[in-house]
Amino acid sequence: MNLAPRAAPSAAGPSALPTLAALRARGVPIVMLTAYDYPTARIAQAAGVDVVLVGDSAANVVLGYNSTRDISIDELLMLTRAARRGVQGVPLVGDLPFGSYEPSDATAVITARRFVEEAGCDAVKLEGAGAMIPRVRAIVAAGIPVVGHVGLLPQSVVTPEGYRAQGRDVEQALQIIADSVALEAAGCAALVVEAVPAAVATLITERVTMPVIGIGAGAGVDGQVLVFHDLLGLGDGHVAKFVQRYADGRAVLESGARRWADDVRSGRYPTESHTYAIAPEALAAISERLGRG
Ligand code: KIV
Repeated sequence: MNLAPRAAPSAAGPSALPTLAALRARGVPIVMLTAYDYPTARIAQAAGVDVVLVGDSAANVVLGYNSTRDISIDELLMLTRAARRGVQGVPLVGDLPFGSYEPSDATAVITARRFVEEAGCDAVKLEGAGAMIPRVRAIVAAGIPVVGHVGLLPQSVVTPEGYRAQGRDVEQALQIIADSVALEAAGCAALVVEAVPAAVATLITERVTMPVIGIGAGAGVDGQVLVFHDLLGLGDGHVAKFVQRYADGRAVLESGARRWADDVRSGRYPTESHTYAIAPEALAAISERLGRG
């Protein structure tokens, strides 16, 4: 495979995710954020992101599983539908969960169709290359844009130690670069590159024409993606080295809930302003009728 920089368009063509392709063409950084329900999708849209990903990271940050391998198609579809209701005019990418696309091209197309038809996705994302290349081709041939995902592949991680940067040695870096080129040739409309050295992600970006969106992949890519709960401090566990917190959402929400609980216990809530009035005559009539009963 020729891994020299090139400029040919992807098989699916840039129009598969036109706003992202246009941003890459103009050299404007792409902002992708995950969202998993109506309110987080509304926040992402109001914040002006370019694309929303309903990631299978929902398994961890929303459903409390230890692994993204644990979320089912139906669980992720339900969250994706809710996110879709919160986003208008912004492309929505649905993650295909573990086990829902690997077995065969037919399975991959059936699952991808569910995410488009039942949840309104504009594109689907799947992890890996190699044996997944025919799956990408099949989904693209069915008319559904695909976002690839290389580098750290959470669906392939089976122990906590597996969450580590990829492509730090020559052979692995060359493999990730070759995988990226192969994914574009198979028709991917965009690519997520997770947890690889910045220099390797830059080499990928120079060798494909599809938009490359990094997470822990440095600044030499076309855009960045982060998990909503990591970005806004909603989780209470370990976060990866590449996460920068822009809010302490958990502290804000916890403090609000605690102050309300304190107010209920001390009688400061509810006040007059939180209650519905009733006309004195109506109340007197009710009392009279109750008295009669
Ligand atoms: O599931 C997810 O949220 C993802 C992003 C981290 C890219 O795949």
